[in-house]
Amino acid sequence: MTAIANKRILLGITGGIAAYKCAELTRRLTEQGAEVRVVMTQSAQEFITPLTMQAVSGNPVAHSLLDPAAEAGMGHIEFAKWADLVLIAPATANFIAKFTAGIADDLLSTLCLATPAPIAIAPAMNQVMYQAQATQANLATLKQRNITLWGPAAGAQACGDVGPGRMVNPDELVTAVVNYFSEQEKPQLLAGKNIMITAGPTREAIDPVRYISNHSSGKMGYALAQAARSLGANVTVVSGPVALAPVECKLVNVISALDMHAAVMADIHQQDIFIACAAVADYRPETIAEQKIKKTNSDEMVVRMIKNPDIVASVAALEKPPFTVGFAAETQDVEHYARDKMQRKNLAMIAANDVAQSGQGFNADDNALTVFWPQGTAQIALANKQVVAVQLLQLIATQFNANTSS
Ligand code: PMT
Repeated sequence: MTAIANKRILLGITGGIAAYKCAELTRRLTEQGAEVRVVMTQSAQEFITPLTMQAVSGNPVAHSLLDPAAEAGMGHIEFAKWADLVLIAPATANFIAKFTAGIADDLLSTLCLATPAPIAIAPAMNQVMYQAQATQANLATLKQRNITLWGPAAGAQACGDVGPGRMVNPDELVTAVVNYFSEQEKPQLLAGKNIMITAGPTREAIDPVRYISNHSSGKMGYALAQAARSLGANVTVVSGPVALAPVECKLVNVISALDMHAAVMADIHQQDIFIACAAVADYRPETIAEQKIKKTNSDEMVVRMIKNPDIVASVAALEKPPFTVGFAAETQDVEHYARDKMQRKNLAMIAANDVAQSGQGFNADDNALTVFWPQGTAQIALANKQVVAVQLLQLIATQFNANTSS
């Protein structure tokens, strides 16, 4: 028995040359015990016939929204409710744009709007179309909406170009589907636990229109929140100002380090785990001018700064602290400074990132971490922050569960 035995997969095929690979994909999914029903767009039928897909799936193929006979069998809403997973492969640039915009002008796009099931897409298109700003923006929006992207792969394309845009091959797509369902069936390591995560930057006001801040985007903290949710935790995010869509959690928005400190301390006694991922300003202006500060004839302006409370250290110093995890953003001697912070702040664990490296750390999509705790250390290799977050949460859950059972 594989993880996809008896799973109901609605395969949406759109009009790209890779559509011919869907016969093989369907055959392999059904070999593993999945039930596959196929929906094809009009242009998909130019590349592979409904008859072929009916033969390999063992089910009638649906392709029209306005077909009374089909609606009398399994109507489009029933179809949408039937699926455990909707997989769109290949997903063309045109389909991705329609899906992002929420257009429902044919059966497949309507199903995508109507389904409560998770949706995964395997993009396939010319490499220039894939790299076009519009496509990239659409894919980023879909990712934010928790749509899973498998691929594209890079290599030689049917049009003669070479680059990213090939549909992931059927074998790899089947593996991705199997892994997806295996992941769902894993015991949830943090089921019912309360986790608070700080995320994003803080802003320290100088006057009504100016502030001191940093480049934190909140991506790492929000990815941690999503990973904690997927492990079954009840998540509270205390977030500085960011431009991200909220994840499924309790969200407390704050501006300054003092606000963040107050919001954390107000709710910390309910928490089992606290993760301090925010880039909190160590200092704030001693006074905030009530009016906008005017330019003077002087060549200098001095802003006197005073120390902010250290939020993670305040949490770790509580009489009964939650399992407290800090981050260390370092530009040199990462291990030395991270271990020193863990000790000084009395943390159960610290995740160090080298923020001097380009393409990771502040405001990047990717990150790499070295994690330290009193009995061990682990490396999390450079990857998308969502992937890094899952690995860090698994480490935290293992250490937290070991600590609470001993
Ligand atoms: O938001 P992104 O763009 O995705 O970037 C992610 C990140 C680089 C901000 C993140 O991975 C990270 O490293 N966060 C911690 C940044 C930081 O402030 O590090 P620090 O080494 O200065 O602080 C050490 C720890 O003390 C951190 O857990 C910090 O949250 C905490 N701290 C610091 C100061 C303070 N007043 N209160 C705190 O709680």
